[in-house]
Amino acid sequence: MKAPVHVSVTGAAGQIGYSLLIRIASGQLLGPDQPVILRLIEIEPAMKALEGVVMELQDCAFPLLKGIVPTCDLSEGFSNASWALLVGSVPRKAGMERKDLLGINGKIFTGQGKAIQENAASDIRTLVVGNPCNTNCLIAMDNAPDVPKDRWFAMTRLDENRAKSQLALKAGADVASVKKLAIWGNHSSTMYPNYFDATIDGKPVPEAIADEAWFADDFIPTVQQRGAAIIKARGLSSAASAANAAVDTVQSIITPTESDNCFSVAVHSNGEYGIEPGLIYSYPMKSDGENLSIIEGLDINDFSQEKIKATEAELSEEKSMVADLLP
Ligand code: NAD
Ligand code: LMR
Repeated sequence: MKAPVHVSVTGAAGQIGYSLLIRIASGQLLGPDQPVILRLIEIEPAMKALEGVVMELQDCAFPLLKGIVPTCDLSEGFSNASWALLVGSVPRKAGMERKDLLGINGKIFTGQGKAIQENAASDIRTLVVGNPCNTNCLIAMDNAPDVPKDRWFAMTRLDENRAKSQLALKAGADVASVKKLAIWGNHSSTMYPNYFDATIDGKPVPEAIADEAWFADDFIPTVQQRGAAIIKARGLSSAASAANAAVDTVQSIITPTESDNCFSVAVHSNGEYGIEPGLIYSYPMKSDGENLSIIEGLDINDFSQEKIKATEAELSEEKSMVADLLP
């Protein structure tokens, strides 16, 4: 039996937490032979609701779940953590952009970044889900300067999954046949689902879907606005699909990527593809099971270039909006 891995989850009593914790405790996050200890972080007013979540986790009798630590103390919450999933924050309402949340959510990530640096295990890796996730990740990362920059991630996998489903529906293909679809840039309405490099059953997407106008008029706006469409329909933001995407992200990070595929996650940019160094920018990624790398050397046409610069500009703007939270 392997030693248990400590996994910290903030916002554990929230919507996403409710779907996510069951997936972690059942072994879907880190694998069927990896025991876990859940460190569940909430704010004081939500501790009562968290008690109920803890009871439900106990009632599942998951063999891999070796301990549960519900807490509103950040030191205790991140103690020994090898994974931190930062979900806890306020979701947007209809009519808002995600960056409108920076004023209320941004400051959460200064204290959490510091607490991760001071308390987590030396192999800590952090995935930020709470919006606006790229810039919140930047805030946490910059407040934890001793944690290597390649251990910080912000979630764009939900956008990738959405994009793949839209392509599969349009082509009448199985979603599993859609590969190499990467989201570039920000998890926001400027994100760019780059379909030029994607394939369906091995065929380039622009050939598999011979409808040029559909990509600009329908596909890209649908993916960019999907979060808002769900809020409009449900009155609440996406939760089960977001939890699923968090599981997919961690799985993709810790599993070698197939040679004909890639996945999307926002990482610290070192200037790849001419993007401003220091931003948390989503790229096409691959993993060898231990380390991640950005897939380099892709041809970027003029249409794509304009899109990847537009989403970079928005991230630069968000960075300037939180200058007071960056040490
Ligand atoms: P929710 O309101 O249901 O739950 C949020 C939880 O976070 C609440 O229980 C709240 O008490 C807790 N919380 C608030 N501040 C906290 C803090 N400082 N420390 C710890 N916990 C705190 O919201 P939700 O639907 O679970 O969404 C959570 C976040 O995830 C939102 O910001 C939402 O926009 C974002 N989100 C991101 C993606 C993505 O693809 N990146 C997808 C869906 C939702
Ligand atoms: C999503 O993409 O569903 C989330 O980021 C929630 C939102 O605010 O759109």
